[in-house]
Amino acid sequence: AEVVIVPDAEAAGRLVAGTILDLIATKPDMVLGLATGSTPLSVYRALADGARGIDVSRVRGFGLDEYVGLPEDHPESYRSVIRRDVVEPVGFDPRRIHMPNGDPATIQTAGDEYEAALRASGGVDLQILGIGTDGHLGFNEPGSSFASLTRVKTLTQQTRRDNSRFFDSVDDVPLHCITQGVGTILRARHLVLLAFGEAKAHALQAAVEGPLTASVPASAVQLHAHATVVVDEAAASELE
Ligand code: F6R
Repeated sequence: AEVVIVPDAEAAGRLVAGTILDLIATKPDMVLGLATGSTPLSVYRALADGARGIDVSRVRGFGLDEYVGLPEDHPESYRSVIRRDVVEPVGFDPRRIHMPNGDPATIQTAGDEYEAALRASGGVDLQILGIGTDGHLGFNEPGSSFASLTRVKTLTQQTRRDNSRFFDSVDDVPLHCITQGVGTILRARHLVLLAFGEAKAHALQAAVEGPLTASVPASAVQLHAHATVVVDEAAASELE
C-alpha cells in the first residue's frame, strides 16, 4: 500500500475528498464505499464543502456495516449515522445510499442480498476505511477470513468498549453486526484506509507492515493493487 502521512485529519479530509470529487467529475454515478465512526468525518466535512455547486445527486453509496437489532431510526444505527454525517451535509440522494439490513427478522438473507446489490451496482469505485484498535476492517474482527463476504459477526468486547462512547453504556452496544466481508472490501477498485492518533499506531503498523494474517483483518489491504493509507504522524509513529 502507498502510505501518505499528512499533518492532521483535516488535511487527510481535503486530500481524500479531492480524490472523490475527481471521480464524481469523470463518473457522476460513481459508487462510494462509506465507513462510519470518527475517522472519516473530516473526509465527509471536506466533501460537503467541495460538493457545493456540484451535482452529486447521481452518486451511489454502500455502507460497510450495520448493527444488528437497532431500529433503523435509532440515532446510532449506521443508517442514521451515514444520513446525518454524509448524505445530508454532502447532498447525496438518500435513495441511492445502501446499508446492510440489520433487521433480525431478515438477517439470514441480508448478507446475500447486499452482495447482490453490490454486484448489480458494478462495484465500489472508492472505499473509505477506518481501522479498529484490534485491527478490524469494517466489522471484520480478528479471525475473519480474507475471502469472507457480507455476513453477521459478533463484535469483540474491545470494539463494544471502543464504540460505547456513542451509547449510554457498553451494555447498550449491540452484540452483533452485519458487515461486508474482507473479500467484499477487497473487490473495491480503490481502498483508502485512514487512521489518526496514537491509539491506532499499533494496529496500523501490523496492518501495513506485519504479516498477512486473519488475526489482523486490515492486513488484507496489502493484497490490494490500489490501496492508499492516509495517516497523521501519531498513527504513523510505529511504522518502520
Ligand atoms: C466503521 C467501521 C469500523 C471503523 C473502526 C474505526 O464503518 O467499519 O471498522 O472504521 O472501528 O472506528 P473509529 O473511526 O471510530 O475509530
